[in-house]
Amino acid sequence: MSEFDSLIKAARAARDNAHAPFSNFKVGAALRTASGKVFGGCNVENATYGLTVCAERVAIFKAISDGERKFDAIAVVTDTDTLTPPCGACRQLIWEFCGDVPVVMSNLQGKIETLRMSQLFPKPFDSSNL
Ligand code: THU
Repeated sequence: MSEFDSLIKAARAARDNAHAPFSNFKVGAALRTASGKVFGGCNVENATYGLTVCAERVAIFKAISDGERKFDAIAVVTDTDTLTPPCGACRQLIWEFCGDVPVVMSNLQGKIETLRMSQLFPKPFDSSNL
């Protein structure tokens, strides 16, 4: 039992809704607000490929559009032995909206690895550079 169990469960549930007919790589994410609310997201692919949106960004945009602004953790679930870290574009947005949160990566077998954003994205460009 870890403090992230319910977040991982939410990411797994979101993964069930993944729309990934082109890659067949289904991803689920779940973002937790400072007040404990959880927003799920799945990857949503498109025939152009390039318009695909990752699960992490879907979760972030859902939360932001619901007025949330403070986050304390994000989970990512895939069905792979090597756990899936967020892509570069998602790292930029997780950093900008969530800061140095733990990123909890997990798979359907229950393997879990947690890294902080400062480990995954050590030298970010953000508003402090403007
Ligand atoms: N994908 C995510 O949703 N999140 C990640 O962290 C890695 C990649 C999606 C994008 C695309 O639909 C599929 O996985 C293959 O790249």
